[in-house]
Amino acid sequence: MRRINLAIVGATGMVGRTFLKVLEERNLPVENYHLFSSARSAGTALSFMGKEYKVMELTENSLDDGVIDIALFSAGGSTSLKFSPIAASKGCVVIDNSSAWRMDPEVPLVVPEVNPKDILKHRGIIANPNCSTIQAVVALKPLHDKYTIKRIVYSTYQAVSGAGMQGNQDLENGLKGEPPKKFPHPIADNVLPHIDVFEKNGYTKEEMKMVNETKKILGDQNLKITATTVRVPVFNSHSESINVEFEKPFDLEELKNTLAQAPGIIVQDDTAANLYPMPVNVSGKDEVYVGRVRRDESLDSGVNLWVVADNIRKGAATNAVQIAQELIKMWESGQLPNKY
Ligand code: A2P
Repeated sequence: MRRINLAIVGATGMVGRTFLKVLEERNLPVENYHLFSSARSAGTALSFMGKEYKVMELTENSLDDGVIDIALFSAGGSTSLKFSPIAASKGCVVIDNSSAWRMDPEVPLVVPEVNPKDILKHRGIIANPNCSTIQAVVALKPLHDKYTIKRIVYSTYQAVSGAGMQGNQDLENGLKGEPPKKFPHPIADNVLPHIDVFEKNGYTKEEMKMVNETKKILGDQNLKITATTVRVPVFNSHSESINVEFEKPFDLEELKNTLAQAPGIIVQDDTAANLYPMPVNVSGKDEVYVGRVRRDESLDSGVNLWVVADNIRKGAATNAVQIAQELIKMWESGQLPNKY
């Protein structure tokens, strides 16, 4: 079996550095790693897998024919819009963390616990969903399969790391009394009902990402979904209150067992012991944590969930690396042609 060549685009960023950590933990059959950034950080040395790697500037020739098999991109939408098609045209499969390609009907939008088979439809670019959508659909998929979801109401409590290095700096500086640079208002000691830009319908782009990406990943355009996304002064890990209405009736204990047995989920729900998921405990983990599972007594068949995940790991880097692992398996097994 041949080993692959893997590129990381945006290696110096918040998600890029986490790609390196997750890759160190997982045993991918990689021959060579190539680390890229913009001209700004080119030349930076990053130690990874016990070696020093020099980060190179990404240019149109960086991803030349056959050199790179998979490129993990986390360098923003405009970089991805420019370089992903170039990479794909040279035989490289891009796994992109930006929102640039997510709603393109030709581009699979994948969470490996939910819709791994969509990878088979790729044409050179696979999109990694929005961080808040990833953790939500991991929790919702087993419930949709069993009870058929009719409607979802999302309310999020999102960490500053979702806004990259500058998000973290705004909270750190804000705690020292300094004004924000990234967010439109102070984030320290504050809560901002505003993530990404506002759209014409009054929702933010983040809210509409959750609505549209959930439908695409669960493969169900009939789902009724609404969202309010909120930035809170937490460094890392997003929390979500998710209200779900089902077509079918359910037994609460059976629903909890369904969640506990589903891939990638840890149920942490013991109110007598004050046990429920919290960002401080979930940061650094790859699973999606679910707690506060309780019947919505205002509905015929509905449930409330509290869902917490590390937005930089499962919400970005881990999910992308898991997609790469699935892709490699599909090459190895002959489900996808070419690479072996
Ligand atoms: P650089 O360090 O040179 O700015 P974050 O979202 O945490 O700020 O990280 C963004 C990542 O994307 C960084 O690694 C950044 O590199 C990289 N990046 C930004 N623009 C480009 C570009 N045009 N080409 C390659 N990498 C880029």
